[in-house]
Amino acid sequence: MVASREALLENFAKPEGYIGEFLGDYMLHENYELNVWAAKVINAQKHDHILEIGFGPGIAIQELSKLVPDGRVVGIDYSDLMVVKAKKLNAEAIQKGQVKLLSGSVENLSLSLGEEQFDKIVAVNTAMYWKDTIQTMSKILGHLKPGGTLSIILHRADQSVRDGSCQDEIKWYSDNLYYAGFGSVYVQSQTLPRTKREFISSRKTVQEILWGYDGGEYDLAGICITATKSSTPHLYDATKLYLNVDNRFGIARSITLT
Ligand SMILES: C[S@@+](CC[C@H](N)C(=O)[O-])C[C@H]1O[C@@H](n2cnc3c(N)ncnc32)[C@H](O)[C@@H]1O
Repeated sequence: MVASREALLENFAKPEGYIGEFLGDYMLHENYELNVWAAKVINAQKHDHILEIGFGPGIAIQELSKLVPDGRVVGIDYSDLMVVKAKKLNAEAIQKGQVKLLSGSVENLSLSLGEEQFDKIVAVNTAMYWKDTIQTMSKILGHLKPGGTLSIILHRADQSVRDGSCQDEIKWYSDNLYYAGFGSVYVQSQTLPRTKREFISSRKTVQEILWGYDGGEYDLAGICITATKSSTPHLYDATKLYLNVDNRFGIARSITLT
């Protein structure tokens, strides 16, 4: 495969074409443990109505559907290619009516979901691509039942959790959730040993293009930032907020309150 680093990074945000096919395969393996953890860490109950935003190849959707046998799992992703892939992976649950996968963007959630509300909303490795983070989070808030939760899940080097270098990024998300009107925020993290070590050619190739070498078997961790919709929402004073929203590709910047 010939692709530039920029083309790969753009394609992670919205997988399309032959690079998207390749990245779908990469994510299916590379993000497997993270997505299995994501489905568990949000504490899904068997009756829950759950939404996943940016489901990619659909692993978390598959895991969630096992955990909510008496509930329902809905997914939304704006990549038509990922919708096709995730529909294949979840064909049985879709046929049973337990899973519904939609093509649409998080910025226009209500267009796809109407007034539908959920007990839990989860977003794995995708919040860094949302266009206006605070506005998008507040639209998500509108699709949660009172007491419902939004969990933003990120894949990071385990070392960055151990040495605290991911703290600024966690604070950036937590602050934005607060400014979007969420009531409380808590953070969990977990080292994720790789269990699915099948060789896939895309892994080596993607890592060589992204970082100039095959990243090897470094440890990864999952970070889960969960915010609750409280019954007494607060409003933020936008005039006091200076926000650098250049958060593409996971390069989160910090918030400065003036
Ligand atoms: C890096 S992939 C992660 C996929 C999957 N969650 C995983 O962990 O393997 C990001 C996914 O989010 C989707 N996405 C990004 N921005 C989105 C948006 N604004 N609205 C809907 N989906 C979006 C992309 O199409 C892609 O499938």
